[in-house]
Amino acid sequence: MKILVTGGTGYIGSHTVVELQKEGFEVVIVDNLSNSQAWIADAIADISGKKPHFEQFDLADQKLTADFFRRHSDLMGVIHFAAFKAVGESVDNPLMYYRNNLVSLMNILEGMQQNVIPNLVFSSSCTVYGQPDELPVSEKAPIKKAESPYGNTKQISEEIIQDTIKSSEIHATALRYFNPIGAHESASIGELPLGVPNNLVPFITQTAIGLRKQLSVFGEDYNTPDGTAIRDYIHVVDLAQAHVVAIKRMINQQMKQRFEIFNLGTGNGYSVLEVIQSFEKVSGLKLNYKIVGRRPGDVEQVWANPEWSNNELGWKAKRNLDEMTASAWKWEQYYRNKQ
Ligand code: UFG
Repeated sequence: MKILVTGGTGYIGSHTVVELQKEGFEVVIVDNLSNSQAWIADAIADISGKKPHFEQFDLADQKLTADFFRRHSDLMGVIHFAAFKAVGESVDNPLMYYRNNLVSLMNILEGMQQNVIPNLVFSSSCTVYGQPDELPVSEKAPIKKAESPYGNTKQISEEIIQDTIKSSEIHATALRYFNPIGAHESASIGELPLGVPNNLVPFITQTAIGLRKQLSVFGEDYNTPDGTAIRDYIHVVDLAQAHVVAIKRMINQQMKQRFEIFNLGTGNGYSVLEVIQSFEKVSGLKLNYKIVGRRPGDVEQVWANPEWSNNELGWKAKRNLDEMTASAWKWEQYYRNKQ
Protein backbone atom coordinates (compact mmCIF):
# COMPACT_ATOMS: atom_id res chain seq x y z
CA MET A 1 0.00 0.00 0.00
CA LYS A 2 1.98 2.89 -1.34
CA ILE A 3 1.16 6.49 -0.39
CA LEU A 4 2.67 9.72 -1.69
CA VAL A 5 3.24 12.33 1.01
CA THR A 6 3.97 15.71 -0.55
CA GLY A 7 5.83 17.98 1.84
CA GLY A 8 6.84 14.83 3.70
CA THR A 9 10.01 16.36 5.15
CA GLY A 10 8.02 19.30 6.53
CA TYR A 11 6.61 19.66 10.03
CA ILE A 12 3.25 17.89 9.79
CA GLY A 13 4.36 15.80 6.82
CA SER A 14 7.30 14.17 8.62
CA HIS A 15 5.17 13.21 11.62
CA THR A 16 2.55 11.75 9.28
CA VAL A 17 5.15 9.68 7.40
CA VAL A 18 6.20 8.10 10.70
CA GLU A 19 2.61 7.22 11.60
CA LEU A 20 1.94 5.80 8.11
CA GLN A 21 5.04 3.62 8.29
CA LYS A 22 4.00 2.41 11.74
CA GLU A 23 0.76 1.20 10.18
CA GLY A 24 2.58 -0.67 7.42
CA PHE A 25 2.25 1.80 4.55
CA GLU A 26 5.07 2.25 2.06
CA VAL A 27 5.74 5.97 1.79
CA VAL A 28 7.11 8.06 -1.04
CA ILE A 29 8.00 11.65 -0.16
CA VAL A 30 8.14 14.49 -2.64
CA ASP A 31 9.48 17.76 -1.28
CA ASN A 32 11.38 20.62 -2.87
CA LEU A 33 13.08 21.37 0.50
CA SER A 34 11.99 25.01 0.29
CA ASN A 35 11.13 24.90 3.99
CA SER A 36 12.67 21.65 5.21
CA GLN A 37 15.87 19.65 5.03
CA ALA A 38 16.94 16.34 3.49
CA TRP A 39 18.25 14.88 6.79
CA ILE A 40 14.66 14.72 8.02
CA ALA A 41 14.18 11.62 5.85
CA ASP A 42 17.00 10.00 7.88
CA ALA A 43 15.47 11.18 11.16
CA ILE A 44 12.20 9.53 10.07
CA ALA A 45 14.14 6.32 9.41
CA ASP A 46 15.74 6.56 12.88
CA ILE A 47 12.27 6.50 14.42
CA SER A 48 10.51 3.99 12.19
CA GLY A 49 13.42 1.84 11.04
CA LYS A 50 12.36 2.46 7.44
CA LYS A 51 13.82 5.08 5.15
CA PRO A 52 11.08 6.55 2.99
CA HIS A 53 11.73 6.85 -0.72
CA PHE A 54 12.47 10.55 -1.28
CA GLU A 55 12.38 12.64 -4.45
CA GLN A 56 13.32 16.29 -4.43
CA PHE A 57 11.47 18.39 -6.98
CA ASP A 58 8.89 21.14 -7.23
CA LEU A 59 5.30 19.98 -7.67
CA ALA A 60 4.53 23.29 -9.36
CA ASP A 61 6.59 21.92 -12.27
CA GLN A 62 4.02 20.24 -14.49
CA LYS A 63 6.42 18.06 -16.46
CA LEU A 64 8.28 16.73 -13.44
CA THR A 65 5.03 16.06 -11.63
CA ALA A 66 3.48 14.25 -14.61
CA ASP A 67 6.63 12.16 -14.93
CA PHE A 68 6.56 11.31 -11.23
CA PHE A 69 2.97 10.07 -11.39
CA ARG A 70 3.71 7.97 -14.49
CA ARG A 71 6.52 6.28 -12.57
CA HIS A 72 4.33 5.78 -9.48
CA SER A 73 0.99 4.85 -11.01
CA ASP A 74 0.59 2.13 -8.34
CA LEU A 75 -0.04 4.70 -5.59
CA MET A 76 -3.13 4.04 -3.44
CA GLY A 77 -3.36 7.64 -2.38
CA VAL A 78 -1.81 11.05 -1.96
CA ILE A 79 -1.57 13.10 1.22
CA HIS A 80 -0.88 16.61 0.05
CA PHE A 81 0.89 18.88 2.54
CA ALA A 82 3.37 20.70 0.31
CA ALA A 83 2.44 24.39 0.37
CA PHE A 84 3.59 27.78 1.53
CA LYS A 85 1.99 28.61 4.87
CA ALA A 86 3.10 31.98 6.25
CA VAL A 87 0.15 34.35 6.48
CA GLY A 88 2.18 37.60 6.49
CA GLU A 89 4.42 36.49 3.63
CA SER A 90 1.32 35.72 1.57
CA VAL A 91 0.09 39.28 2.05
CA ASP A 92 3.43 40.63 0.75
CA ASN A 93 3.73 38.06 -2.06
CA PRO A 94 0.25 36.94 -3.10
CA LEU A 95 1.18 35.69 -6.56
CA MET A 96 3.93 33.52 -5.16
CA TYR A 97 1.32 31.91 -2.89
CA TYR A 98 -1.33 31.46 -5.57
CA ARG A 99 1.18 30.05 -8.04
CA ASN A 100 2.83 27.66 -5.62
CA ASN A 101 -0.18 26.41 -3.68
CA LEU A 102 -2.69 26.22 -6.52
CA VAL A 103 -0.51 25.13 -9.46
CA SER A 104 1.00 22.28 -7.46
CA LEU A 105 -2.46 21.08 -6.43
CA MET A 106 -3.64 21.16 -10.05
CA ASN A 107 -0.58 19.23 -11.20
CA ILE A 108 -1.19 16.61 -8.54
CA LEU A 109 -4.87 16.25 -9.44
CA GLU A 110 -3.93 15.91 -13.10
CA GLY A 111 -1.37 13.22 -12.30
CA MET A 112 -3.91 11.37 -10.17
CA GLN A 113 -6.55 11.57 -12.90
CA GLN A 114 -4.24 10.39 -15.64
CA ASN A 115 -2.96 7.45 -13.64
CA VAL A 116 -6.22 6.57 -11.88
CA ILE A 117 -4.93 7.15 -8.37
CA PRO A 118 -8.10 7.14 -6.29
CA ASN A 119 -7.59 8.95 -2.99
CA LEU A 120 -6.51 12.44 -1.97
CA VAL A 121 -6.17 13.80 1.56
CA PHE A 122 -5.78 17.56 1.50
CA SER A 123 -4.24 19.76 4.19
CA SER A 124 -6.79 22.46 4.85
CA SER A 125 -7.10 24.91 7.70
CA CYS A 126 -9.55 26.35 10.20
CA THR A 127 -8.60 29.66 8.64
CA VAL A 128 -11.46 28.99 6.16
CA TYR A 129 -13.93 29.77 9.00
CA GLY A 130 -12.43 33.20 9.80
CA GLN A 131 -13.95 34.44 13.09
CA PRO A 132 -16.88 32.02 13.30
CA ASP A 133 -20.29 33.26 14.43
CA GLU A 134 -20.71 30.23 16.68
CA LEU A 135 -18.21 28.46 18.89
CA PRO A 136 -17.15 25.70 18.87
CA VAL A 137 -16.98 25.69 15.09
CA SER A 138 -18.30 22.68 13.19
CA GLU A 139 -17.70 21.66 9.59
CA LYS A 140 -21.12 23.09 8.72
CA ALA A 141 -20.08 26.65 9.61
CA PRO A 142 -20.02 29.02 6.65
CA ILE A 143 -16.76 29.78 4.89
CA LYS A 144 -15.84 33.42 5.55
CA LYS A 145 -13.97 35.66 3.15
CA ALA A 146 -10.29 34.82 3.60
CA GLU A 147 -8.17 37.25 5.63
CA SER A 148 -5.03 36.54 3.59
CA PRO A 149 -3.93 35.13 0.22
CA TYR A 150 -2.66 32.09 2.15
CA GLY A 151 -6.13 31.48 3.60
CA ASN A 152 -7.63 32.07 0.18
CA THR A 153 -5.42 29.36 -1.34
CA LYS A 154 -6.93 26.90 1.16
CA GLN A 155 -10.48 27.95 0.24
CA ILE A 156 -9.81 27.88 -3.49
CA SER A 157 -7.99 24.55 -3.18
CA GLU A 158 -11.04 22.95 -1.57
CA GLU A 159 -13.14 24.27 -4.47
CA ILE A 160 -10.69 23.04 -7.11
CA ILE A 161 -10.75 19.60 -5.52
CA GLN A 162 -14.55 19.49 -5.33
CA ASP A 163 -14.94 20.55 -8.97
CA THR A 164 -12.28 18.10 -10.18
CA ILE A 165 -13.62 15.04 -8.44
CA LYS A 166 -17.06 15.56 -10.01
CA SER A 167 -15.65 14.59 -13.37
CA SER A 168 -13.16 11.94 -12.29
CA GLU A 169 -12.73 8.83 -10.18
CA ILE A 170 -10.90 10.66 -7.42
CA HIS A 171 -12.22 10.74 -3.84
CA ALA A 172 -11.00 13.46 -1.52
CA THR A 173 -10.90 14.35 2.17
CA ALA A 174 -10.14 17.86 3.38
CA LEU A 175 -8.74 17.96 6.90
CA ARG A 176 -9.13 21.38 8.48
CA TYR A 177 -6.39 21.79 11.03
CA PHE A 178 -6.64 24.00 14.06
CA ASN A 179 -3.24 24.93 15.60
CA PRO A 180 -0.73 22.07 15.40
CA ILE A 181 2.11 22.29 17.94
CA GLY A 182 4.51 19.93 19.70
CA ALA A 183 6.85 17.29 18.36
CA HIS A 184 7.46 13.56 18.17
CA GLU A 185 8.26 12.04 21.59
CA SER A 186 11.68 10.92 20.32
CA ALA A 187 12.54 14.61 19.67
CA SER A 188 14.11 13.44 16.39
CA ILE A 189 11.65 15.47 14.34
CA GLY A 190 9.71 18.65 15.12
CA GLU A 191 8.87 22.10 13.85
CA LEU A 192 11.79 23.87 12.16
CA PRO A 193 10.74 27.36 11.14
CA LEU A 194 12.97 29.24 8.72
CA GLY A 195 14.23 32.46 10.34
CA VAL A 196 12.11 34.28 12.92
CA PRO A 197 9.08 32.13 13.79
CA ASN A 198 5.61 33.50 13.07
CA ASN A 199 3.84 31.01 15.28
CA LEU A 200 3.48 31.14 19.02
CA VAL A 201 5.04 27.91 20.26
CA PRO A 202 8.28 27.95 18.24
CA PHE A 203 8.67 31.58 19.30
CA ILE A 204 8.25 30.54 22.94
CA THR A 205 10.79 27.71 22.74
CA GLN A 206 13.31 29.81 20.79
CA THR A 207 12.98 32.57 23.39
CA ALA A 208 13.50 30.09 26.21
CA ILE A 209 16.61 28.64 24.58
CA GLY A 210 18.05 32.14 24.08
CA LEU A 211 17.68 32.55 20.31
CA ARG A 212 15.09 35.32 20.73
CA LYS A 213 15.16 38.01 23.39
CA GLN A 214 11.51 38.27 24.22
CA LEU A 215 8.14 36.95 23.13
CA SER A 216 5.56 39.57 22.17
CA VAL A 217 2.03 38.63 23.20
CA PHE A 218 -0.21 40.15 20.56
CA GLY A 219 -3.11 41.84 22.34
CA GLU A 220 -4.64 41.60 25.82
CA ASP A 221 -7.84 43.45 25.05
CA TYR A 222 -9.76 40.63 23.38
CA ASN A 223 -13.15 39.65 24.67
CA THR A 224 -11.78 36.53 26.36
CA PRO A 225 -11.34 35.64 30.08
CA ASP A 226 -7.72 36.87 30.27
CA GLY A 227 -7.88 39.21 27.28
CA THR A 228 -5.52 37.21 25.06
CA ALA A 229 -6.61 35.35 21.93
CA ILE A 230 -7.84 31.76 22.10
CA ARG A 231 -6.94 28.85 19.79
CA ASP A 232 -7.44 25.12 19.67
CA TYR A 233 -3.89 23.74 19.93
CA ILE A 234 -3.50 20.15 18.80
CA HIS A 235 -0.50 17.83 19.23
CA VAL A 236 1.12 17.20 15.85
CA VAL A 237 1.22 13.43 16.51
CA ASP A 238 -2.55 13.37 17.11
CA LEU A 239 -2.93 15.33 13.89
CA ALA A 240 -0.63 12.94 12.01
CA GLN A 241 -2.62 9.94 13.23
CA ALA A 242 -5.81 11.49 11.88
CA HIS A 243 -4.28 11.34 8.39
CA VAL A 244 -3.68 7.62 8.72
CA VAL A 245 -7.28 7.09 9.83
CA ALA A 246 -8.53 9.26 6.94
CA ILE A 247 -6.54 7.49 4.23
CA LYS A 248 -7.57 4.06 5.60
CA ARG A 249 -11.22 5.14 5.54
CA MET A 250 -10.78 6.04 1.88
CA ILE A 251 -8.89 2.88 0.92
CA ASN A 252 -11.48 0.75 2.72
CA GLN A 253 -14.22 2.60 0.83
CA GLN A 254 -15.95 3.76 3.99
CA MET A 255 -16.57 7.31 2.83
CA LYS A 256 -20.17 8.49 2.89
CA GLN A 257 -19.53 11.00 0.11
CA ARG A 258 -16.88 11.47 -2.58
CA PHE A 259 -15.70 14.62 -0.79
CA GLU A 260 -15.58 14.77 2.99
CA ILE A 261 -14.43 17.42 5.42
CA PHE A 262 -13.22 16.92 8.98
CA ASN A 263 -12.10 19.37 11.65
CA LEU A 264 -8.89 18.33 13.38
CA GLY A 265 -8.87 19.96 16.78
CA THR A 266 -9.22 18.92 20.40
CA GLY A 267 -12.34 20.94 21.14
CA ASN A 268 -10.51 22.91 23.85
CA GLY A 269 -9.57 26.54 23.51
CA TYR A 270 -6.52 27.97 25.27
CA SER A 271 -5.41 31.58 25.50
CA VAL A 272 -1.90 32.78 24.68
CA LEU A 273 -1.24 33.28 28.40
CA GLU A 274 -2.42 29.76 29.18
CA VAL A 275 0.03 28.36 26.62
CA ILE A 276 2.83 30.38 28.23
CA GLN A 277 1.80 29.12 31.69
CA SER A 278 1.82 25.54 30.44
CA PHE A 279 5.28 26.04 28.95
CA GLU A 280 6.60 27.56 32.20
CA LYS A 281 5.15 24.66 34.19
CA VAL A 282 6.64 21.87 32.07
CA SER A 283 10.02 23.56 31.56
CA GLY A 284 10.43 25.02 35.03
CA LEU A 285 11.54 28.26 33.35
CA LYS A 286 10.27 31.81 33.50
CA LEU A 287 9.56 33.07 30.00
CA ASN A 288 10.53 36.61 29.05
CA TYR A 289 7.45 38.10 27.41
CA LYS A 290 5.66 41.39 27.09
CA ILE A 291 2.18 42.37 26.02
CA VAL A 292 2.05 44.42 22.82
CA GLY A 293 -0.73 45.46 20.44
CA ARG A 294 -2.87 43.07 18.43
CA ARG A 295 -1.43 41.44 15.31
CA PRO A 296 -3.39 42.55 12.24
CA GLY A 297 -5.55 39.80 10.78
CA ASP A 298 -5.70 37.69 13.97
CA VAL A 299 -9.09 36.30 14.92
CA GLU A 300 -10.15 36.67 18.55
CA GLN A 301 -11.05 33.10 19.36
CA VAL A 302 -11.60 29.85 17.56
CA TRP A 303 -11.84 26.27 18.66
CA ALA A 304 -13.20 23.16 17.04
CA ASN A 305 -16.28 21.13 17.45
CA PRO A 306 -14.54 17.77 16.85
CA GLU A 307 -17.73 15.63 17.16
CA TRP A 308 -17.99 14.77 13.49
CA SER A 309 -14.32 13.67 13.41
CA ASN A 310 -14.69 11.78 16.69
CA ASN A 311 -17.86 9.96 15.69
CA GLU A 312 -17.61 9.57 11.94
CA LEU A 313 -13.86 9.35 11.36
CA GLY A 314 -13.39 7.51 14.64
CA TRP A 315 -10.42 9.64 15.64
CA LYS A 316 -9.91 11.70 18.76
CA ALA A 317 -7.01 13.88 19.87
CA LYS A 318 -5.50 12.33 23.02
CA ARG A 319 -2.65 14.55 24.10
CA ASN A 320 -3.16 17.54 26.41
CA LEU A 321 -1.63 21.01 26.35
CA ASP A 322 1.19 20.18 28.78
CA GLU A 323 2.23 17.21 26.62
CA MET A 324 2.25 19.52 23.62
CA THR A 325 4.42 22.22 25.19
CA ALA A 326 6.72 19.66 26.86
CA SER A 327 7.37 17.85 23.57
CA ALA A 328 7.99 21.15 21.76
CA TRP A 329 10.51 22.11 24.43
CA LYS A 330 12.25 18.72 24.35
CA TRP A 331 12.58 18.99 20.57
CA GLU A 332 13.98 22.55 20.74
CA GLN A 333 16.65 21.44 23.23
CA TYR A 334 17.63 18.25 21.36
CA TYR A 335 17.80 20.08 18.05
CA ARG A 336 19.90 22.99 19.32
CA ASN A 337 22.26 20.62 21.17
CA LYS A 338 22.84 18.76 17.90
CA GLN A 339 23.93 21.97 16.12
N1 UFG B 1 1.00 34.99 19.05
C1 UFG B 1 1.64 35.84 19.92
N2 UFG B 1 2.97 36.08 19.73
C2 UFG B 1 3.69 35.50 18.73
C3 UFG B 1 3.02 34.60 17.84
C4 UFG B 1 1.67 34.39 18.04
O1 UFG B 1 1.02 36.38 20.83
O2 UFG B 1 4.88 35.78 18.60
C5 UFG B 1 -0.43 34.72 19.25
C6 UFG B 1 -1.26 35.10 18.05
O3 UFG B 1 -1.62 36.44 18.10
C7 UFG B 1 -2.43 34.14 18.20
C8 UFG B 1 -1.82 32.89 18.85
O4 UFG B 1 -0.60 33.33 19.42
O5 UFG B 1 -3.37 34.67 19.07
C9 UFG B 1 -1.52 31.80 17.86
O6 UFG B 1 -0.76 32.35 16.80
P1 UFG B 1 -0.04 31.44 15.71
O7 UFG B 1 0.68 32.36 14.77
O8 UFG B 1 0.73 30.36 16.36
O9 UFG B 1 -1.26 30.74 14.99
P2 UFG B 1 -2.46 31.40 14.18
O10 UFG B 1 -3.69 30.95 14.89
O11 UFG B 1 -2.30 32.81 13.92
O12 UFG B 1 -2.22 30.70 12.78
C10 UFG B 1 -2.54 29.38 12.56
C11 UFG B 1 -1.69 28.80 11.43
C12 UFG B 1 -1.99 29.46 10.13
C13 UFG B 1 -3.47 29.49 9.89
C14 UFG B 1 -4.21 30.07 11.06
C15 UFG B 1 -5.68 29.96 10.91
O13 UFG B 1 -0.32 28.97 11.71
O14 UFG B 1 -1.37 28.71 9.12
O15 UFG B 1 -3.88 29.35 12.23
O16 UFG B 1 -6.35 30.56 11.96
F1 UFG B 1 -3.79 30.24 8.81
